[in-house]
Amino acid sequence: MDLGLADRTVLVTGGSSGVGLATVRTLLAEGARVATCGRDADRLAEAAATLGAGQDRLLTGVCDVREADAVQRFTDRVATAFGGVDGLVNNAGQSRMKRLDETGAEDWRDELELKFAGVLHPLQACRPHLRASDAASVVNVNAVLAKQPEPRLITTSAARAGILNLSKSLATELAPEGIRINSVCLGLIDTGQWTRRHAAADTGLTYEQWQSRLAADRGVALGRLGRAEEVAYAVVSLLSPRASYITGTSIDVCGGVSRGIL
Ligand SMILES: NC(=O)c1ccc[n+]([C@@H]2O[C@H](COP(=O)([O-])OP(=O)(O)OC[C@H]3O[C@@H](n4cnc5c(N)ncnc54)[C@H](OP(=O)(O)O)[C@@H]3O)[C@@H](O)[C@H]2O)c1
Repeated sequence: MDLGLADRTVLVTGGSSGVGLATVRTLLAEGARVATCGRDADRLAEAAATLGAGQDRLLTGVCDVREADAVQRFTDRVATAFGGVDGLVNNAGQSRMKRLDETGAEDWRDELELKFAGVLHPLQACRPHLRASDAASVVNVNAVLAKQPEPRLITTSAARAGILNLSKSLATELAPEGIRINSVCLGLIDTGQWTRRHAAADTGLTYEQWQSRLAADRGVALGRLGRAEEVAYAVVSLLSPRASYITGTSIDVCGGVSRGIL
């Protein structure tokens, strides 16, 4: 099926690795023009080099989503180069592995800032362009933690729940402007986040053995971690104009780790 994304412009935050990079790759394969950002210029350049896209299709920029002015400047560059913005994927971020007693005031502040700024700054910068598009769609990359908190990720779980709630409000408020807003809630996806944790855990297990044990411990029904491309397909289908009647909802991409029915 043609997803109708050819020659549309999509801005993906955090596209130098993992889910963001897989989303950029999938969008390019659909014929979209893609812009993406991250904080580390070298990582971004390395990732871009793997994509084999020309400057007329792919634009990258160093930008921290916590800095509103930097996000605005990057978005202005994208809109000027590509003539607008039709889609936005708020993906940049990471989780904070801490329990209550390990969590200080700074952890709470930093985590809430990252999660809320990561949605609000790009959305505010892109909003005039999205309003001008005839197929505007925003996808917030969230986590099943939003609905199923884990004490070992206490700040991230709380922030994720807030973002899921915010996504619903935004979907309602921006619907009259023709902007759809949806979320994907991830379980355990095999990306840099997990290779870093495997290295830090120093268990003596290979990454594959460690992953299988992790999937079993966490009760992943499909018995394995997800792949970044498996998330990208869900994100891209929500971005597609074919999903024109879908807004204010969320899709779990979690291999059945989510125990809820909503
Ligand atoms: N993998 C999972 O199991 C999982 C589960 C639930 C939710 N998630 C969420 O899914 C999203 C993608 O995760 P991932 O696993 O693909 O992570 P990843 O491989 O670590 O990639 C994260 C990307 O975000 C960028 N980034 C991080 N902080 C940023 C900031 N402040 N401003 C701009 N860019 C920033 C990183 O580049 P720089 O470091 O160079 O900035 C990188 O490109 C994250 O929001 C994550 O929390 C992941």
